[in-house]
Amino acid sequence: MATTVIGARETRPARFWAATNGKKVVMAITGAILFLFVIGHMLGNLQVFEGPDKLNAYGRFLRIVPEILWTVRIVLLASVILHIWAAVQLAARKIQARPVGYAKHENVVSDYASRTMYWSGPILLAFVIFHLLHLTAGVIHPGGEFVEGDVYHNVVAGFQVWYVSAWYIFSMILLGFHIRHGAWSMFQSVGINHPRYTPILKKAAAVLAVVIVLGYISIPISVLLGLVK
Ligand code: HEM
Repeated sequence: MATTVIGARETRPARFWAATNGKKVVMAITGAILFLFVIGHMLGNLQVFEGPDKLNAYGRFLRIVPEILWTVRIVLLASVILHIWAAVQLAARKIQARPVGYAKHENVVSDYASRTMYWSGPILLAFVIFHLLHLTAGVIHPGGEFVEGDVYHNVVAGFQVWYVSAWYIFSMILLGFHIRHGAWSMFQSVGINHPRYTPILKKAAAVLAVVIVLGYISIPISVLLGLVK
């Protein structure tokens, strides 16, 4: 009887979150939000190729309405927290569900994919923290002074340091893997599993991941080559 009372008191969102599928859907939705940000941010950053005025104007534009900027920041932060929280809980469940002495992996492909997610995820989190300290707060900015509001200068001076660029390039490649595998699992979580369309969607996710990686890494590479200065 007591169980029924506790069960009745549980809200629908709590029941949804408690279910493995609920957590997978949360991962898919928050992943999709972060993915949209990654695309928008890449397009914004590519304005570096149009010169300092264009990129700095874009930086100022983002700050015109602080309410919008902070709403976006809060949505992104909430998405990152939920995404990681659900990932950790799903990983814990997977470990608990694994029988003792489990030696042979039945599904090598999906196991490889999820293993990639569990190590690329934490490295990407480390990258984002470094990136915020590097180009938003300017607390860590080797290679030149961080100038508040001069986004172009901060990006170019920042990437002239080879090891900073190398760290960005490495992280962007991991981001590409993470997006590709993330898209695969997202299709599964939301029930898109069709013999004809799933391979096409998987291929589209891979192509998009490559475009994103190339878009982002073109910036540090161009700075290192002296094409952007
Ligand atoms: C070559 C790669 C990248 C460059 C040149 C770049 C550049 C920048 C710059 C200049 C800012 C500060 C903007 C400003 O203060 O006006 C910024 C902020 C930010 N970047 Fe990046 N970024 C890169 C990659 C990424 C990636 C891959 C992610 C996410 C996975 C990311 C996430 C963020 C976030 C969350 C912010 C803070 C936005 C805010 O102010 O609320 N960036 N980036």
